Amino acid sequence: MAQTSTAERPAQTRSELADRAMQIFREKVTADMRPEEKDELLELTMMQLLDRNVAVPFFGRAGAQGGGYVNRILGKYLMHDDPRLPQMPEIPTLIDFFKKRILLKEGGGNHLLQSANLALKNGLSEKLVLACLLHDIAVTCYIRTDHGYHGAQLIEPYVDEETAWAVRYHQALRFYPDESVGYEYPDLYRRAMGEDYTPPAYIQRDYEYARKHKWYMSARLVTANDLYAFDPNVTVDIDDFTDIIGRNFRQPEEGLGFDTSPTAHMWRSIIWPNNFL
Ligand SMILES: [Fe+2]
Ligand SMILES: [Fe+2]
Repeated sequence: MAQTSTAERPAQTRSELADRAMQIFREKVTADMRPEEKDELLELTMMQLLDRNVAVPFFGRAGAQGGGYVNRILGKYLMHDDPRLPQMPEIPTLIDFFKKRILLKEGGGNHLLQSANLALKNGLSEKLVLACLLHDIAVTCYIRTDHGYHGAQLIEPYVDEETAWAVRYHQALRFYPDESVGYEYPDLYRRAMGEDYTPPAYIQRDYEYARKHKWYMSARLVTANDLYAFDPNVTVDIDDFTDIIGRNFRQPEEGLGFDTSPTAHMWRSIIWPNNFL
């Protein structure tokens, strides 16, 4: 009986997929291809090797449809483990989420590590160092739009109320300077949204609310330690925060995503972002 060779069956691990995709890519790539054509070719090769359609996540779908999203392969859809992503352990911890999801893209994850590192140096409380470590968690691995609100909701069952509050309101506070802590309106926002950008009414309302709140300074300190100027000479490791996470993040026994908290499904969506349903 003929055996199925490795080259014939769908790739099962991330490195197998990458190796085989690169092999096929090298055979097909030509010198005159534009970078976006090369990207497209590599993506198509990966999809063929997966032998599965990959559904666009629902949040992404509304946006992707505007961009002309098309289905490329007909047939079964990918469910659960995606060999293009590092496999998560059965009982995932917050540190696993950092190592296998948040830090996958260098820029995003490092921004969190460097901000938390700065907060630690500045002597912030552990609750707020954790808030800095998680303040943009939504952008890095879940959803970009309204990231402060989504991030706060995601972590709420597992952290002190003040930590989640600071994550939620840092989003609105970023639009408003506060000289008392040396926080200025970010240049990045001017470049990204234009000089004349005015935040929508709900951001203005939430800023006003936060400004008068007893935890105003907690969210404000998250913005003051929201570090965009990366220092390439400073290496921060997520393992440096093991103790702070251990003391301030309630790790569920079943693993993040598999407990019965009201946000477990959100963590599962980060584990399996491309499930069909
Ligand atoms: Fe943010
Ligand atoms: Fe940030």
